[in-house]
Amino acid sequence: MTGGPIVGALNGRRPRLVERYRRFLPVSDATPPLTLGEGFTPLVHARRLGAELGLTRLFLKVEGQNPTGSFKDRGMVVAVARALEDGAKALICASTGNTSASAAAYGAAAGLEVVVVLPRGQIALGKLLQALVAGAHVVAIDGNFDEALTLVRQLADDPAHPITLVNSINPYRLEGQKTAAFEVCDDLGAPPDVLAIPVGNAGNISAYWAGFRAYRDAGEIEALPRMFGFQAEGAAPLVLGHPVDQPETIATAIRIGNPASWDKAIAARDESDGVIQAVSDEQILAAYQDLARLEGVFCEPSSAASLAGIRALAESTDLDRDATIVCVLTGAGLKDPATAQASAPAIAESEPNVDAIRRVLGW
Ligand SMILES: Cc1ncc(COP(=O)(O)O)c(C=O)c1O
Repeated sequence: MTGGPIVGALNGRRPRLVERYRRFLPVSDATPPLTLGEGFTPLVHARRLGAELGLTRLFLKVEGQNPTGSFKDRGMVVAVARALEDGAKALICASTGNTSASAAAYGAAAGLEVVVVLPRGQIALGKLLQALVAGAHVVAIDGNFDEALTLVRQLADDPAHPITLVNSINPYRLEGQKTAAFEVCDDLGAPPDVLAIPVGNAGNISAYWAGFRAYRDAGEIEALPRMFGFQAEGAAPLVLGHPVDQPETIATAIRIGNPASWDKAIAARDESDGVIQAVSDEQILAAYQDLARLEGVFCEPSSAASLAGIRALAESTDLDRDATIVCVLTGAGLKDPATAQASAPAIAESEPNVDAIRRVLGW
């Protein structure tokens, strides 16, 4: 156990994520005990969606319940704690939105300067506001995520202005993100048969696969799941086998044409006898709405790619109906109010009396 107080709003009953899985993480007694209460997210049995798809054991890993509303917090807490340990004064990232929200929050908690470089006009409003409110320097460029990542790599390489890069190419990020795989196994009491996950820069699928293997090697689980990754049709370099110059999809968090963790994602697919497939924006939006309407789980559009992919496979292949399938829902629905508003029904209006309300309701 590390000494010193736990930073954040937790009491002694719930350990910090980094404490819980400490033996699998690159931390030591010298690592500051930073936390905003990340991890321990729910694994929800999706009974209604499962019944519709004929899948008896369909589960949702609801990562939108992390402190800044996405899975990024699992890796960010480790990356920022290690940056603090190494004496960093500033953090920098490129982002499709969630990394910047997470870096801004953990950077604020750690008292570090945070710089985020974003593709102009392509960031969901909720994520942008999170970064701005937390006091990050937000710089918009006329370019896509891949170009933003190239620029921050160059800035981070400049010895004249030391700054720690906290994109998922920072190895501590993926180390921390492994903890989601541990939680899934702990909650199920065994590994799932299939782990379905949206894929953008391909860090998360790589982290889950590393997590499952680490748990197997430590004797915590006996088998490994099959990894099913899903990209958006207009941003599917791993499916096509080559980078996409102008990635396009409504799912802004996975609008990435040249994934940084390309080789790791392909290895996760091949070593696990998995698949990486594309889903259309229509399939993503249908899954996004059904998750909210049938399960009460409001995720952001990119997250719904995991269910969209499982649904397509359930409809077109002989996916084992009794397999334990976990769909990772990577981020929270309120991050992207524009997409929610575009697909939401109109608000009914009424005179302020019960008869009028009854009429509006068709009673
Ligand atoms: C909500 C959401 N889902 C999925 C992804 C894709 O994760 P990765 O880039 O690690 O593949 C991201 C990445 O930004 C994200 O924010």
